[in-house]
Amino acid sequence: MKTQKRLGILTSGGDCPGLNAAIRAVVSHATITYDWEVFGIPYATTGLLEKKAIPLTLHGMDLRGMNPLLNMGGTILGSINKGDTLAHIDEIIAGYNALELDALIGIGGDGSLTILDELRDKGNWQFVAIPKTIDNDVAFTEKVVGFDTAVNTVVDALNRLTFTAASHDRVMIVEVMGRSAGHLALEAGIAGGADCILIPEIPYSIKGVCSHLRELRDNWGRRFGIVVVAEGARIAKDSCCYPKCEIAKPSCGMGQYILDEIRHCSHNQLDIRVSVLGHIQRGGIPSAGDRLLASAFGKAAVDLIAKGKTAKMVAWQNGEVVAVPLEKVIAKSPSLVKPDNFLVETEQSLGIYVGNTEHISKLEDSIRSLPLGYS
Ligand code: F6P
Repeated sequence: MKTQKRLGILTSGGDCPGLNAAIRAVVSHATITYDWEVFGIPYATTGLLEKKAIPLTLHGMDLRGMNPLLNMGGTILGSINKGDTLAHIDEIIAGYNALELDALIGIGGDGSLTILDELRDKGNWQFVAIPKTIDNDVAFTEKVVGFDTAVNTVVDALNRLTFTAASHDRVMIVEVMGRSAGHLALEAGIAGGADCILIPEIPYSIKGVCSHLRELRDNWGRRFGIVVVAEGARIAKDSCCYPKCEIAKPSCGMGQYILDEIRHCSHNQLDIRVSVLGHIQRGGIPSAGDRLLASAFGKAAVDLIAKGKTAKMVAWQNGEVVAVPLEKVIAKSPSLVKPDNFLVETEQSLGIYVGNTEHISKLEDSIRSLPLGYS
């Protein structure tokens, strides 16, 4: 026997491709299988605070069978990744109660999930989370919505930049997103044929980067170089050569900073350019992988609510969707690149410059304590 429920869904934190595919899966499964009503909450907790809910129906999403939500980037619900949500806990809970929702699905990264879990606890919500972020740094899940597309976007950029770099014998520095976790730089860098990959977890030495580029030129006949750098990459202590070298995050972008450093270190002998991929990495049509993941996560999240198994996050482990207690996820996130990560070993074995891997574990704690955005 079907039990009518009013299910809310929201997207929180930085957007990424695949959010709409997850919304579509939730609405489809909740409507077709359980006959529930589904409401989209605009702009995450702001929508709850303002008591706003938009009815989401199969018919409304269908558009003559064209399924636009499956392949649209961004989020039709809007999102927020700033603001002092926790200062308004009582109003948000009052808004949720006023909307008479029986349960809520929140799609977010680790910052959003921490906030939503606190609201869940205080408001006694029936809540299930779906992980998303192009940083892929949510613990206990091998995949999150949005990461696969972002990796493909960066690889596409690297393909293009390689040809222009090769044509002009240039070093191309490509800055990618990743303030504390280097998964995107690491995976896209390997797949895109980078020569150096600099990530927040492994401090790099500018001299190491320069001598690697020199070696490519002198011993391998390679006249150009591709350096992929995460925006939060960190220079190893005592390894600067530029007089104004700072260990902390420079005020200019990381790509520009490394360009200045390499220029100085190489005595201006290298022709270098920098490309900052920025928010292009968050846009675009979701990949097939992200559409599949979003669909599987959406279905599983609805089933968890139907079974009353809440305060959980759906996660991808060993080829299937499982449910992990949210408090465990929050305690272990962000999930950083580990020293024994097989992809770090892979890049080393391919001759890619990776920085000083001995520093990883020492840095991990300090990275965790960084004030994080709200992903
Ligand atoms: O979602 C996380 C992230 O993609 C980070 O890698 C990046 O630093 C940040 O979002 C940028 O967010 P904003 O939208 O505030 O510029």
